[in-house]
Order: sequence, then C-alpha cells, then structure tokens
Amino acid sequence: MRLTVIGTGYLGAVHAACMADIGHDVLGVDTDAGKVEELAAGRAPFHEPGLPEILTRNTRAGRLRFTTSLAEAADFADLHFVCVGTPQRPDSLAADLRHVEAVVDGLAPLLTRDSLVVGKSTVPVGTTRSLSRRIAAGLRPGVEARIAWNPEFLREGFAVQDTLRPDRLVVGATEPGTDQLLRQVYEPMLRAGVPYIGTDPATAELVKVAANSFLATKISFINAMAEICDATGADVATLADALGHDARIGRRFLSAGLGFGGGCLPKDIRAFLARAEELQVGEAVSFLRDVDRINRRQRRRTVDLARRLLGDTFAGKRVAVLGATFKPDSDDVRDSPALDVAAEIAATGADVHVHDPEGIDNARLALPGPSYHTDVMDACRDADLVLHLTEWRQYRAIDPVKLSEIVRVPTVLDARNALDREVWHAAGWHVRALGRPH
Ligand code: UGA
Repeated sequence: MRLTVIGTGYLGAVHAACMADIGHDVLGVDTDAGKVEELAAGRAPFHEPGLPEILTRNTRAGRLRFTTSLAEAADFADLHFVCVGTPQRPDSLAADLRHVEAVVDGLAPLLTRDSLVVGKSTVPVGTTRSLSRRIAAGLRPGVEARIAWNPEFLREGFAVQDTLRPDRLVVGATEPGTDQLLRQVYEPMLRAGVPYIGTDPATAELVKVAANSFLATKISFINAMAEICDATGADVATLADALGHDARIGRRFLSAGLGFGGGCLPKDIRAFLARAEELQVGEAVSFLRDVDRINRRQRRRTVDLARRLLGDTFAGKRVAVLGATFKPDSDDVRDSPALDVAAEIAATGADVHVHDPEGIDNARLALPGPSYHTDVMDACRDADLVLHLTEWRQYRAIDPVKLSEIVRVPTVLDARNALDREVWHAAGWHVRALGRPH
C-alpha cells in the first residue's frame, strides 16, 4: 500500500521506516529540510537502536522516501499518518496542538481524492472530533476525507521492536471502512497475533493517555514508598520485589529512584489534567497532580542527599554525574531527571563533570554549564561524589575497584538503584540510594 507519514521525529521516523519494512511504499514528510536529508540518506537524526539498519535497508530498496512537500504527500497517497509532536504549552499544563492543526490545515486543501488521515500523536480526548470538523472546512468541493486515531505506544530505546511487534493495536474510527483499511496496513502484525482493538476515536485517544498515566502513577507510587522507607529504615528495592511477585501488581515500572522524565510521561499527565478540567471532571484525575509532585520531588531529594553526603555543602566540591539522558538507550534529554539534578548542583557553583554514552551533544545544548566527558574515568577523576543518574548498561559494568583508585572520595549515590551494592561495598565504596538503608 502507498502511505505517507507526516512528521519524522521519534515517532514518525520509526513509523515510516517500520511501515516500509513490512512492505508498504512510504513517503515521510517533515518541514525540517536537514532532517529530511539525513533520513533520505538512511541516517537516523537521533539515537535509536535498530533504526539506522531499517532506514538504510528500506531507502535502498526504494520503499522509503522523504520530502518537505505536503503537496507531494497529497499526490503520493490517500492514506496519511500524522506523527507530529504535541508538546506541553509554555503557558499552561495543556498540550500544544499547533503542529497537528497545521498539518490538517495544510493538507486538507491539497487533497484531490477521497483520503484517510490517521493520527498517531498523543492528543487530548476529543481531538479527532474537532480535527474532523477542521479538515472538512478545508477540503476542495467534491473531495472527502475521513479521520481516525491510532495511538502509538512505543518506548524510546525499543521503538523499532515496539512498532514491529506492538503489545496491541488500537484504532478509533467512526466508519467500518476505515477499520478495514487499517487492518490491511497492519496485516503482517495481525497475522503474527497482535491484538487489534477497534473502537471509537475518543476511547482510542484515551487509551494512550490512560496508559501513560497508569505507568507514571506506578513509578510515583513506588517513589512515595521510598520516602516512607527512608523514614523507617525499610528497603524499597526489596519492597518492590516482594510487591512485584503478585501478578496483579507486577514488578515492571516499580523501580524506585529519580523518577520519570522524557518527552511523554510528564507532559501527558499534565495535559490529561488540563483536559479533564476543561471537561469539568478534573477531580476524577486530580491524583495525577500528586503523581507529578511526587515525581518532581525525587529530583530535589536526590540533590539534598548529595549535599548531605558532601558534608552539607557543594562549595568547592567536584561532583561526577553518570548519565544525562532521561533513560538509557536514548540520546533524549527532554525533561531529563538526570540533567535537572546536574543543573541544580551546577547552579550551586560546584564543579560538575557529566558523562553520557549518547546524550552529550544534546545535554551540552540544554545545559551548557558543566564539563562533559566521553570517558567515564575522566568524568570521575578526583570526584568527591559520584552520582549514578541514568542506568546505562555500561555503568553496571564499571569496575568499582578501578574507579575507587581515581576518585577523591569513594562515595556513590545510586539514584537508579541499578548498581550491584555488594560488589561496590566490597571495593570500599560508601553506597547510598533513596529509600534504602545503608
Ligand atoms: C513512554 C511509555 O512507556 C510508552 O509506552 C509510550 O508510548 C511513550 O512514553 C510515549 O508516550 O510516546 P518512554 O517515554 O520512551 O515511553 O520511556 P519509559 O520507558 O516509559 O520511561 C519513562 C521514564 O520513567 C524514564 O525516565 C525512566 O527512567 C522512568 N522509569 C521507568 C522509572 O523511573 N522507574 C521505572 O520503574 C520505569
């Protein structure tokens, strides 16, 4: 089938490449000419495991092309996926729908044949309905366009595998024809047994924000327990393991520590709060305000614990920061808890040295103050304190004996509860973490 993917950020670039990989003829569209050029050459503009390979394979095979022209997109296919960003508005908690609206407004008058527009971006419940009116207003006489919502659940770092083998496919549409067409698009996945949930647009929009709200709540729940553990000497890691054995609870997303960040979870819970208030049902999800507060508090608690470990002052101290991205296997520093902590400590005048395997370039742009290193040892040399803030696999492989020889003080704050405490203790380190006795 021929289709376009409009917006080639994390979501769109991966969706376009994966749709081509399952055999479709795909045209990716973006307003950023630099990004289009990179993608057309088979290069990923951000770090995502597996993406360069499928980009190269499919651009070479001629199944995947990129353009900056919406007119070319309208001409190329009758099926258009919308994958542009919906960031938080600068002036409120709500989602900024400017990019989605610009796509719909730009595309509608260019359509010359009946078309289907399928939104994949995360949007407030009710958006499909308002966009459907918007698109209808822009169409040429005699041309019809349907609109459906098909949210995406991919995780950064696992985006390719999540897109090719999703846990489920959710499609919100009002006409049966739309459902049939999307079943055709995703046929290889359906054949492999991926569950397909066909529903109305509002439910589809809601599945996405409800899923992210649930995940965020789970993380904040265990971080709230970590605060109780700190007050009582209990151990949050053992608590999470024990809770996780209950299949109804499950261990995943129950890792206490610095909390969640990134371009999705934080802004999605805030946008959900804002939308619920608009709908006069704000009280139903007011707990999400606490989820957000608990989450942000972990950053402050980490800075406070770091200060205590340094004798109640950052003045004149050298602090090594391991990790700048919001999670491992990504170069994304949007709302990164690690970078927030580094920023707070750097603001005290402390000498902050940051290492990250993939995120240094983005981190330097977002936070120019600290020194950045591509070698863990360089970042940790002469450190008075090592902060482990993003749980990259390579940090778990650090030899704590070797590291202890180059730091000034062998104290590590493991804000992700991911290092092997026994091994670090045996190497002479003082290991601290939120929610865990020492
Ligand atoms: C999240 C969801 O997991 C995806 O399903 C969703 O599609 C995506 O948002 C989106 O809306 O596009 P992502 O932001 O890539 O995916 O990252 P996650 O793996 O969910 O991690 C989010 C944050 O939670 C990270 O900062 C991570 O360090 C933190 N986290 C995760 C914890 O603090 N504890 C945990 O136990 C798990």
